[in-house]
Amino acid sequence: MIIVTGATGQLGARTVDRLLTRVPAARIGVSVRDPRKASHLADRGVRVRQGDFGSPETLAHAFEGAEQVLVVSAMTIGPEARVMHAAAIDAARDAGARRVLYTSHQGVSDTSRFAPMPDHAAAERRLAASGTAHTSLRNGFYASTVPGLVASALRTGKLVAPHDGPVSWTAHDDLAEAAAVILAEEGRFDGPTPPLTGPQALDLDDVAALLTKLTGRTVERVTVPEEEYVAALREDGVPEAVAQLTLGMFRAFGDGDFDTVTDDLSTLIGRPATPLRTLLETVVAAQ
Ligand SMILES: NC(=O)c1ccc[n+]([C@@H]2O[C@H](COP(=O)([O-])OP(=O)(O)OC[C@H]3O[C@@H](n4cnc5c(N)ncnc54)[C@H](OP(=O)(O)O)[C@@H]3O)[C@@H](O)[C@H]2O)c1
Repeated sequence: MIIVTGATGQLGARTVDRLLTRVPAARIGVSVRDPRKASHLADRGVRVRQGDFGSPETLAHAFEGAEQVLVVSAMTIGPEARVMHAAAIDAARDAGARRVLYTSHQGVSDTSRFAPMPDHAAAERRLAASGTAHTSLRNGFYASTVPGLVASALRTGKLVAPHDGPVSWTAHDDLAEAAAVILAEEGRFDGPTPPLTGPQALDLDDVAALLTKLTGRTVERVTVPEEEYVAALREDGVPEAVAQLTLGMFRAFGDGDFDTVTDDLSTLIGRPATPLRTLLETVVAAQ
């Protein structure tokens, strides 16, 4: 049985949906924090069990009978993330899975200034030490981050942010399809995948130019000092930890942590990876 965690989240839900086109439902199980949110999957014949990385004792039952487990990283950072991901990886191995997969990141690194990247590096090390066949899905930076970055620019005509750098923005749908392919074709990647990225690396100058084209109104990129940007976030009531996480993200953009572009994602899914423009067209159309 193939077990997918986080199947009530954006990536996990789409992964299960795509997996159902490749593998009989009876061979798929999900481990979710709240099984009521996965009743639609139970209706399709998928095994639904409760599992929470924060309560590792739940995972033996959730992962029972696993041949492969895809551990979708939890939306948390720091020590909590490391403990949870280690618990999930260990539980998958202990359940007898012959391959454990983990949603890592194209920018995985111990030295990145974007906080989740060292956590992914720790998870990859845990996987490598697990003694089980394993695959780290080095997913590109989610394109779904961009609408939040440009929301006020669409109102004001000014895309205000600190110094940044090119990012190969990547669509959830593409990454989910790739995960489904890798699960269905077990062993296609052993160890880390190449970076699975969108087709182009675009910085915020490029994004402003794209928005100008799509809206027909000038959107100007305004680069502000980091302190000014963080102060504005604080004034908007953004918690300090989130403000610092966001600043770290821009610094890592500027460091080039997410600028790699490969065609491995397109090859896996058998069609061109989705450009950021497609998502921005939807955002602009919804205005
Ligand atoms: N590649 C990137 O650029 C990028 C960007 C942001 C995040 N990420 C990582 O990718 C992951 C998946 O992305 P997404 O868009 O699907 O995020 P999402 O929609 O927030 O889904 C996260 C999933 O993790 C589950 N989860 C949270 N805490 C858990 C726990 N203690 N035990 C078990 N499951 C837990 C959530 O369960 P519920 O459904 O019960 O809430 C949810 O299903 C994120 O969690 C994050 O680690 C990657």
